[in-house]
Amino acid sequence: MPIKFNAIGSFLFATLFVGSVLAQDQRDIPFIAEDIHLGVASCAGSSCHGALEPWTNSTVLQNEYIIWEEEDPHSGAYKTLLTNESQRIAKNLGLDRAEDEDLCLDCHADNVPVERRAKGFQISDGVGCEACHGGAVNWLGRHISGEADHAANLASGLYPSEDPVARAELCLSCHFGTKDRFVTHRIMGAGHPRLAFELDTYTWTQPGHVAVDADYKSRKGNISSVQVWAVGQAVAVDSLLEAMLDPNRNRDGIFPELVFFDCHACHHPMSNVRWAPRDSHEIGPGIPRIYDANLIMMQILLQRIDPNMADGVAVKSKALHQASLQGYDAVINAARALKDATEGVIDQLASYDFTAADTKALMAGLLKEGLSGEYVDYAAAEQATMAASAMLQTMVDDGMISREQYVELSAVLNDCYSAIEKDEEYNPRQFLAALQKLQSAVPSL
Ligand code: HEC
Ligand code: HEC
Ligand code: HEC
Ligand code: HEC
Repeated sequence: MPIKFNAIGSFLFATLFVGSVLAQDQRDIPFIAEDIHLGVASCAGSSCHGALEPWTNSTVLQNEYIIWEEEDPHSGAYKTLLTNESQRIAKNLGLDRAEDEDLCLDCHADNVPVERRAKGFQISDGVGCEACHGGAVNWLGRHISGEADHAANLASGLYPSEDPVARAELCLSCHFGTKDRFVTHRIMGAGHPRLAFELDTYTWTQPGHVAVDADYKSRKGNISSVQVWAVGQAVAVDSLLEAMLDPNRNRDGIFPELVFFDCHACHHPMSNVRWAPRDSHEIGPGIPRIYDANLIMMQILLQRIDPNMADGVAVKSKALHQASLQGYDAVINAARALKDATEGVIDQLASYDFTAADTKALMAGLLKEGLSGEYVDYAAAEQATMAASAMLQTMVDDGMISREQYVELSAVLNDCYSAIEKDEEYNPRQFLAALQKLQSAVPSL
């Protein structure tokens, strides 16, 4: 199916995004970009973003600092490094103090080089405003004076976090990692928690500090939860393949890097026996399998919007799984072939005009995959649950379901959330039952 653009969609696209967002696609994340970071204090004034209550007469909430400081785990990310848990991880890795190590600070703070820190900058602020919004040195002045609009701010170094591709790259740069910062299985073995991520769900559980109202949409576009979810999946797949192809990250001695594999294939109680075959990998019992939760989600997306590509990607995904039974070179070749097969998919999903019919079909696809046994692994069930959340959100936002229906369906989805609450106690049969309930609730749409 060709990429669809209706007239209004392409008009909005042309006026809102070309020149601002599209040009930013290549934008370096704030960690890498050259701009100087001023520090959280420069954003936190009570007449800036540190108001106690949202303003009624402003385009933005103005209390972003308070939300970040009081509710957002990013403000405590540095303090996490001072805990016994972090000190233990550091000790297990032969390091001195976690809070002095770039290895930890790179993700638990806005750890830009010293020459990119202005006078008021404090590393102890953790993942501060500029770690996501970009070094403010070139945009703060005009931004405060009210002279600059969003496009001018972007041109002076504000990071385009409203753009799903840019946002996915930003979040995953810490929530999965890049060539510059990465949580290896060694670090997890020392005690670091597993990293899980879904762009739409995590944007709102951060919690979000925006009100997506008419004014927001007129300034930044009306991007649905389904689209944000879709782009997040494609960028996650790309990040995984990139890491598998990176010789600095893809092995540890004679072993492959184990974070590319399904954690729970190795880590679950032996009394909780649950292995089941899956057509999409055909890896036998007792063998670790490559982590593929995002690939499963991308497959569901492609089956709807580009069935030809879906077929190619399915073949190459299975080939990657099979290559893991052969050896290092086979995996590299298969990962490269899969990367080639997914070439362009991020842009395709970012510019695709998702209709109500698409959202319905995607929900049906999501349920079908699950009921056919694709979610036997915990991570797939976890991704499927968050995907369903994003879909229900778009359904209510687009008026496909009423508020009441949304509340009812969310209550049904809660059974899926309960089934994934404790990863090590995950029981695929319990999840399947929850999915069946969701399926019988959904056709009434
Ligand atoms: C500079 C690195 C960095 C970036 C960029 C980043 N995060 Fe995080 N994030 C973290 C760290 C570190 C934590 C854990 C904080 C803690 O508890 O110490 C975290 C925690 C979270 C949590 C809480 C997770 C939980 O299990 O409770 C959410 C939600 C989240 N981030 C969402 C996002 C989103 C959405 C983005 C992109 C808009 C993003 N993050 C970008 C580093 C980052
Ligand atoms: C590639 C980025 C990255 C690196 C490097 C990294 N972390 Fe994390 N860390 C995260 C993210 C993201 C989370 C939040 C995970 C979640 O809840 O989804 C986190 C969570 C944690 C937590 C749990 C926090 C909580 O609230 O429960 C601890 C403890 C921790 N990290 C310590 C460390 C230490 C110590 C180091 C250095 C050895 C380190 N991290 C290196 C990204 C990173
Ligand atoms: C973990 C990443 C992250 C951190 C840290 C962060 N933000 Fe944001 N911020 C976002 C995302 C994502 C959005 C929503 C997308 C958008 O509109 O750019 C956003 C949106 C905003 C907006 C735009 C609201 C609108 O209506 O256009 C403002 C203003 C803002 N943030 C201020 C702040 C301030 C001030 C801080 C620090 C106290 C901060 N942010 C910290 C990720 C972050
Ligand atoms: C191929 C099997 C395998 C895979 C896949 C795997 N691990 Fe491990 N993991 C191990 C082994 C082996 C150890 C070492 C156990 C020991 O020392 O007792 C270990 C240790 C750990 C530990 C420390 C356990 C302890 O007792 O201190 C954590 C935490 C951990 N892994 C997390 C993960 C996460 C998260 C993932 C997925 C991203 C993952 N592992 C994937 C095999 C695996």
